[in-house]
Amino acid sequence: MLGDKKQWGKLIKEGQAHITSDGYHGVGAMPPKGGKPDLTVAEFSSAVVYMANQAGANWKEPDEAMLKDINKRIAKKQSKS
Ligand code: HEM
Repeated sequence: MLGDKKQWGKLIKEGQAHITSDGYHGVGAMPPKGGKPDLTVAEFSSAVVYMANQAGANWKEPDEAMLKDINKRIAKKQSKS
């Protein structure tokens, strides 16, 4: 939930590439891309930055290296499912 520092604190520790790729791919009861199939990885990543920073993180809009890491993780998940 947006702004829940206790819950988000755990996710923030897992790292930006990790939780962004989880959310984009879909995790647990969360639908892929938050249920918006037209969202790009960059758009989805921006939303995650906003959500994490609401809970005290200081994440930046992903640069090229971060996007590459996120994309790599998504591809790995897709190859498994
Ligand atoms: C663009 C919109 C959204 C973004 C950016 C977003 C982002 C995230 C992120 C970063 C996580 C944490 C992933 C992790 O555990 O590593 C998460 C978890 C979750 N989200 Fe979303 N989300 C979005 C929309 C939604 C929507 C629409 C739903 C419900 C229909 C939803 C349901 C959930 C649930 C249930 C989890 C917990 C999954 C689990 O650990 O079992 N999310 N979301």
